Amino acid sequence: MIDETVRILTNREVAEDFYLARLAAPHIAGEALPGQFVNLKVNAGVTPFLRMPLSVCDVNPDAGYIDVLYQEAGPKTQALCKQPIGEELSCLGPLGHPFTHPDKGTDCVLVGGGIGVPPMIFLGRRLMREGFDVALLIGARSAAKHLSDELLEGTALRIGRATDDGSLGHCGLVTDLLRQELESTGSKAVYTCGPHAMIEAVADVSREFDAACQVSLEEYMACGIGICVGCVVRVENADGKTEYGDYKRICVDGPVFDAREICWEH
Ligand code: FES
Repeated sequence: MIDETVRILTNREVAEDFYLARLAAPHIAGEALPGQFVNLKVNAGVTPFLRMPLSVCDVNPDAGYIDVLYQEAGPKTQALCKQPIGEELSCLGPLGHPFTHPDKGTDCVLVGGGIGVPPMIFLGRRLMREGFDVALLIGARSAAKHLSDELLEGTALRIGRATDDGSLGHCGLVTDLLRQELESTGSKAVYTCGPHAMIEAVADVSREFDAACQVSLEEYMACGIGICVGCVVRVENADGKTEYGDYKRICVDGPVFDAREICWEH
């Protein structure tokens, strides 16, 4: 883990309530892997110096920057939206365990929703560069909440979009698209991040098609480094049973888990 002073290079709205910040962070850029996150400290005025966990959306080690995509929701992200270009912030990272890659030649399906899309972008670009066949499926409430094709460039060979209101792509659940993709391609590696109900449904469909599924869990985090135990998830116990599971900390034991390990709370 690196404690780095990063500098805001750009910070702009890229979809309704979604902002993309590019941070000069040469040390973290050289280390971060898809699925990992950073903990950024922002001066929010009345609630000063809050840290917020943000998934890494992409890195450029040569240029020395990282991208983070975040949704304006609450005092921390509202404060980050207002930070001026050139502002310097304290940043811890990269944190957590990254996604693991499948065996060579395995087709991959990435499913993202809401603020779960950024790690899918980073992972998709990495898998594509390594020659994997990648499909990226994104669910959102409406067209206005979807990222542009330009922002998703290089993330996948096929991109599918779903909206709740039918204003873009498939009208309905992103898991409908996942089912179609698994039926037509027989892909055996699924990766997902997003709202709890969505990733649980993705895990269910993956199990139905006998595809391995890695989930990146989102949870409220305080310390982000394993001390406060404020981010636990129930997982299978040492006997592989989920009904009387053990607990793991998402920030240091995750955020990426094998979906079969999770005790899904319905
Ligand atoms: S956020 Fe403190 S232990 Fe995970």
